[in-house]
Amino acid sequence: MNTKTTVISQEALDAQFACCDKIAAYWKNKGVTPVAYVETYGCQQNEADSEKLRGYLAQSGYAIGSEAEGADVVIMNTCAIREHAEQRVFGNLGALTHTKHRHPEQKIFLCGCMAGETKVSDRIRQSYPHVDGVFSTHHLWQFPEILWNVLSGKKRQFFIADEPGSIAEGIPQVRDSKLKAWVSIMYGCNNFCTYCIVPYVRGRERSRKFADILAECRELIDGGAKEITLLGQNVNSYGKDLPEGKDFADLLAAIAQLPGDFLIRFMTSHPRDASEKLFDTMAKYPKIAKQLHLPFQSGSSRVLKAMNRHYDRDTYLNKVNYAKKVMPELVLTSDVIVGFPGETEEEFEETISLIQQVHYDSLFTFIFSPRPGTPAASMDDPTPKEEKNRRFDRLCAVQNAISEEIHNNYIGKTMRCLVDGRDKDMLTARTEGGRLVRFAGDDSLIGSYHNITITGATTWSLTGQLQA
Ligand code: SAH
Ligand code: SF4
Ligand code: F3S
Repeated sequence: MNTKTTVISQEALDAQFACCDKIAAYWKNKGVTPVAYVETYGCQQNEADSEKLRGYLAQSGYAIGSEAEGADVVIMNTCAIREHAEQRVFGNLGALTHTKHRHPEQKIFLCGCMAGETKVSDRIRQSYPHVDGVFSTHHLWQFPEILWNVLSGKKRQFFIADEPGSIAEGIPQVRDSKLKAWVSIMYGCNNFCTYCIVPYVRGRERSRKFADILAECRELIDGGAKEITLLGQNVNSYGKDLPEGKDFADLLAAIAQLPGDFLIRFMTSHPRDASEKLFDTMAKYPKIAKQLHLPFQSGSSRVLKAMNRHYDRDTYLNKVNYAKKVMPELVLTSDVIVGFPGETEEEFEETISLIQQVHYDSLFTFIFSPRPGTPAASMDDPTPKEEKNRRFDRLCAVQNAISEEIHNNYIGKTMRCLVDGRDKDMLTARTEGGRLVRFAGDDSLIGSYHNITITGATTWSLTGQLQA
């Protein structure tokens, strides 16, 4: 058991807060309120990290803006999961030469998962001289120091040393929503699925302490949060690195027993570690949403083995069947990759048949994207791109029909939903299972639970009517 996770000391964090003070004094001296803009790519983990960057920025005197134009600090918090995600970032980063030209004081930073790749930091060093600093996820806690170094005239900052990773408690956060909060319960990943870059850029799996997570949830609920989403690349292995002897199901149960009217969600669950204990715990507590995101990636046991997923088709299906048995109302979603190197037509058909068997509410579908440095990137991949596109389209068509059918079955049902915002002339709400419902109503409904009768459905969302 690895219990050697580095916990950042209070002293080290205080040194960062001292940099925040220096930055705030620097701007006060100039008599202006500086503006910062943080652009987030990728998954919720990055969203949660951006809330910390905004927390540090607010503590350093920055107002948080909504565009790069005119901002004094621009941070791009990036995602490396697929090649396309990286290309987008490089394109947008290039465009910042113009915003910086119009506002020469602008300081530009790149962080997040791409910053953990040497080839990316090398490219920025050589071809993007307008970028003032690059820092990987391991160095996010040092952002005030990096920013202060840049403001005080030091040369370009590269905080990219490869590390197993650490845990920093007590970084301030400016949350996007008071109503729906992200809580990271662990960082990193140990799984090394052969296609995936995450373990290389986010370091080893490390869990936050049980008591720290519980305290954060309590504070959020007291502050009005109605939905808490627990985050980790593989939440089911929570606690394996802690001496406390508690697992993810124990954590869920403890949060579910906190007083207040709220729902707990979580992502992502790795099927290998999803246990009957987890499903029983979900079934037992009304405050745990009956929603499960359980990525299967492929319906073929041979492909799953090549992906290093450590479960086969039957094990996966058995787990899903158990979960559905103890939670008949379960909303089930998943991730799937089409065109993994060497995937045959028959193996692809196994993916289709798994989807038809499980009947997912919705799917996140991806075409395999080779990530340099991962084992799958150098596997033989004879299937032409056009063929992969064809498989992808077929998969989407099959799933869309299933999603539509499931959504149609909601019509006539009345469901308790959290009203979470407005989209043009309709209010938006979420069912317990996380499905989007649009309905007509007054803004005063936002922020509380209401009963809504479903009157219409599409592949992607539901429409409804508020019950008095
Ligand atoms: N930790 C999560 C997934 C994080 S990445 C889990 O294991 O379930 C989100 C999804 O991106 C993955 O589930 C996978 O379907 C997809 N993905 C990851 N790497 C990919 C790659 N190289 N090409 C295509 N899709 C990929
Ligand atoms: Fe990537 Fe696999 Fe870890 Fe998920 S479990 S982050 S897919 S290596
Ligand atoms: Fe992307 Fe990093 Fe998340 S690679 S998907 S932002 S963990």
